[in-house]
Amino acid sequence: MTAGRLTARSFPLPEPVREACLRVRRALGDRGAGPNPAWIAALTGARRREVVDVLAELSDLVPLAEQIRHRHLAAGRTFYAQIGAPFDLYAIVRLTRPRHVVEAGVSSGVSSAHFLAALRRNRRGTLHSIDLPTRQHGPVLRRGESVVSLPPHLATGWAVPEPLRAGWDLRAGPAQRLLPQLVDELDSVDLFLHDDLHTPRHLAFELATVGPKLTGGGVALADNVNWTGRSFFRYAAHRGARVVRRGRTNLVGFAVPAAPAAL
Ligand SMILES: C[S@@+](CC[C@H](N)C(=O)[O-])C[C@H]1O[C@@H](n2cnc3c(N)ncnc32)[C@H](O)[C@@H]1O
Repeated sequence: MTAGRLTARSFPLPEPVREACLRVRRALGDRGAGPNPAWIAALTGARRREVVDVLAELSDLVPLAEQIRHRHLAAGRTFYAQIGAPFDLYAIVRLTRPRHVVEAGVSSGVSSAHFLAALRRNRRGTLHSIDLPTRQHGPVLRRGESVVSLPPHLATGWAVPEPLRAGWDLRAGPAQRLLPQLVDELDSVDLFLHDDLHTPRHLAFELATVGPKLTGGGVALADNVNWTGRSFFRYAAHRGARVVRRGRTNLVGFAVPAAPAAL
């Protein structure tokens, strides 16, 4: 891949796969969460056929999506500023088979649950998540409180069903302190998702921190880049990578180019 930017537009899916995407989206209760196959293909280098095969698996995620939705509703809210592309995350993990996925920003755990489901199906790999939670003060969200604050008596990642939690490395605290420690412990970061504090400085810090362990074939993703200025684009250019935007959304990613072979 060369440096530059690309907007991934979707490609058509066979009817049964479209139906699977529709069902899982409805089960989660997020109309905008349908996957973008072209974005997935551009980031993973997978052929269309491979992307289609992985998206066909989404019908198996319907029970998970239903559970997450029920947990959200039971806690009194339908929206926790969760990522708008959970099924794309699932597909990227299935196609790239990472050993270590690192995410900054968990909230109720929509992105985490889909990473964990994909890793489980891969039968390899670990999800490492960092989150500094904020708390809702009363039983209902008051004006001025963040939509990602935790409802009373719940902990970070509370919408992730118990069977998926085994082996999940979930760390509570500021990414400013925890991310450097975590990255030190890992021999690689194969997939990184920034979805926590959306400031240019913080995103630049996170990319600089994971960067040395993010090697050829690895993927970096950042949500809400409308709030983080040039940070993601600058870092991708520094790595000689092309940023791919997910349709018209503010979710972007790049695949790390393989290092040139030594002479
Ligand atoms: C947008 S939400 C994450 C949504 C999640 N990825 C999902 O798909 O459900 C952002 C989360 O990042 C947390 N956060 C904010 N600043 C942080 C920081 N400095 N370090 C770690 N987490 C932080 C917030 O408390 C919140 O839980």
